[in-house]
Amino acid sequence: MIPRTRVAQVLRPLARATASTPTAASSRMAMRCIATSAPRLLSASSPRRATKLTTEMYPGIKRDERFKQLSSDDVTYFKELLGSDSALIDGLHQDAAADIEPFNEDWLHKYKGQCRLVLKPGSTEDVSAILKYCNEQKLAVVPQGGNTGLVGGSVPVFDEIVINMARMNKIHSFDEVSGSLVADAGCILETTDQYLAERGAIFPLDLGAKGSCHIGGNMATNAGGLRLLRYGSLHGSVLGLEVVLPDGTIMNDLCTLRKNNTGYDLKQLHIGAEGTIGIITKVSIQCPRRSSAINVAFFGLESFEKVQQAFREAKGQLSEILSAFELMDGKSQSMVHKVRPDSKKPLEDEHPFYCLIETSGSNGEHDYAKLESFLEDVMTKEIITDGVVAQDATQLKSLWSWREGIPECLGHWGGTYKYDVSIPIQDMYAIVDDISAKMEEAGLVGETDEYPVVGVVGYGHMGDSNLHLNIAVRRYDVEVEKILEPYVYEWIADKKGSISAEHGLGIAKKNYIGYSRDETTIGLMKQIKNLYDPNGIMNPYKYV
Ligand code: FAD
Ligand code: MLT
Ligand code: ZN
Repeated sequence: MIPRTRVAQVLRPLARATASTPTAASSRMAMRCIATSAPRLLSASSPRRATKLTTEMYPGIKRDERFKQLSSDDVTYFKELLGSDSALIDGLHQDAAADIEPFNEDWLHKYKGQCRLVLKPGSTEDVSAILKYCNEQKLAVVPQGGNTGLVGGSVPVFDEIVINMARMNKIHSFDEVSGSLVADAGCILETTDQYLAERGAIFPLDLGAKGSCHIGGNMATNAGGLRLLRYGSLHGSVLGLEVVLPDGTIMNDLCTLRKNNTGYDLKQLHIGAEGTIGIITKVSIQCPRRSSAINVAFFGLESFEKVQQAFREAKGQLSEILSAFELMDGKSQSMVHKVRPDSKKPLEDEHPFYCLIETSGSNGEHDYAKLESFLEDVMTKEIITDGVVAQDATQLKSLWSWREGIPECLGHWGGTYKYDVSIPIQDMYAIVDDISAKMEEAGLVGETDEYPVVGVVGYGHMGDSNLHLNIAVRRYDVEVEKILEPYVYEWIADKKGSISAEHGLGIAKKNYIGYSRDETTIGLMKQIKNLYDPNGIMNPYKYV
């Protein structure tokens, strides 16, 4: 982190910024070509209790007796197939619990499986042979990317075999004219974006877990992230996929064309399927040119009403250069500050809400002038109370860290109940106050260890009407969960919202899908699952 004194010197208070015409700063802006980058995940740094097995926490889930137990012969088959000891972790013949733990346990430390075999295929053919064998033998599997998923979809529940994609991490081609990139599913998002940055392009998705998540995992979860406002959903930017189906068949739909209306668009089914109907092995995606001028402003507001006004003004005044509009409530920022007390807060005073705006364009002076005039306008209209604008790449990164660092900081005390919801924008924040009151009433919130709840916060992608309602806890507790579920889902359904805006269903929301989808739709989903995976071996106990 940058030292306090430096931040104080270089973060120009908004009041001064709007009062002058900073030609030097403007030209400096014009030179920028910045990718934001969150710190790597540090969840191991905070003390925490051992994660309970999913089957202990949720004893109602029973092992599907259709699935065979892993045998010595199976392990021998996979060893011979993959041909290298480093391509598998064998917990059947030796005590490999410590080595397997990172593959068995999710990022939130909420779910823990009992897998005894991790396979790391090196090619599409490996994946195909593995699935063919598992399907014939009725061995259940869990596809796994960077294991940063937030709904427990990426880890086993019982003894499913983990198929981890990390070894498939090659970039195959990038067409600098059309912008199409073809890469293996196991490529890490940040590494892929760095490759593109060197070629003047950008991956059309960015999120806080970029240093660990895989692009295959991003496709499988249809991740939304911080710039969906600018680059749209992956359903629009993915050009093609190579997928291995549960019986080992390879579906090569690795099209690199922008337009292809030849029949049903089957790749779309795999985007957001969370590994339930196939394993994505390669991705073809349309990557835009990287903007040469990036600006970030961070400001405080007095109410959610003002946040909405600011968003409306930003869309109107910044229009084509607006690339992110993120919301954070005051409580989330206090918690980040508690966990990172050495980080200087962007604004001196406390505010009930904060927003981070990013602009990305091709003309630094023009963009900066637009941002300045927007900020001047919203301050004059008393929509925002105080704010700062980043003056260089370090500050830009520092401002983003107050937003991107929230998930990790909330987990500091032990865990987080996460609700990732889409709600019509005017009602978006009310659920946070409601749940906060409910937790207080139940006497669950407090400063000491006897209270399970540390705090209830809201933040998210204002630009996409996507709120993250988070309850930071000291431990996962059935009493807390009973108050939250199905209440939160009923609340969302009542507002005609979605119970999963971007994180997916996994195991966390499998039983609640009916709050956002009607019976006909769920029935069709089940038919699709059965059509692709009649033996049900792909990521069981989850999704639909
Ligand atoms: P994993 O967690 O390994 O897997 C996720 C699911 O996809 C599982 O069901 C798994 O079985 C399946 N899967 C993985 N790889 C494949 C494959 N190759 N083929 C088929 N199925 C596969 N999500 C957002 O949408 N927006 C955000 O802003 C966002 N921010 C995050 C910030 C943090 C700090 C963290 C920890 C997570 C965040 N996430 C966010 C959640 C998560 O969805 C993303 O991190 C990411 O898309 C998951 O990728 P992964 O490689 O880690 O997948
Ligand atoms: C985010 O927007 O930070 C992610 O979706 C992760 C989270 O919800 O915590
Ligand atoms: Zn998010």
